[in-house]
Amino acid sequence: MANEGLNNGRRRFLTASTAVVGAMGTGAVSYAFLASWKPSARAQSAGAPVTVDISNLSREPGGRMTVQWRGKPVWIFQRNVEQLAALPKLDGRLADPMSDNTDQTPAFAKNETRSLKPEIGVLVGICTHLGCSPLHVPELQPQPFDSEWLGGFYCPCHNSRFDLAGRVFSGMPAPANLPVPPHHFDKLNPSLIVVGVAPEEVV
Ligand code: FES
Repeated sequence: MANEGLNNGRRRFLTASTAVVGAMGTGAVSYAFLASWKPSARAQSAGAPVTVDISNLSREPGGRMTVQWRGKPVWIFQRNVEQLAALPKLDGRLADPMSDNTDQTPAFAKNETRSLKPEIGVLVGICTHLGCSPLHVPELQPQPFDSEWLGGFYCPCHNSRFDLAGRVFSGMPAPANLPVPPHHFDKLNPSLIVVGVAPEEVV
């Protein structure tokens, strides 16, 4: 009971000390949406965690929301069964399919989908080449600029391509996968994602 009280207190503290961002889903054909939210300058400089309510995240392929954490865009996006089934087939074309580079992938996300829940992706939306923000291309179909690339994230600055787990294809200018930020799902309300706190940091 003491631990439960401590945990509840910790959760209340985290909730009170972070900003809750209302979820805004996007449609299947909408590639980008930037939530109109900014933390206070003090909270931002301190790198405060951001609590995100994803209850309204669209379940359609391409459903995505963007929040700011430590001055960086963080994407939270939906993946459907077909998109998930396509991921293992790409391994042979990827530079780091198993996410062995721990700079971009924390231990809790070292899996095929690079996520805590397969259907929900959480990535820092900054290209690992020179820092552009890639486009979200959720449709599993050949693209005009690459007939063999079936969607994912595309950085138009220098044509780097990533899959829907943020894994970079071999031979791209980008040297590494898109980063997975520390984050976890709230134990009491799984519609809340706390960006900035890894699962192992939750007490
Ligand atoms: S910044 Fe993305 S490919 Fe160069």
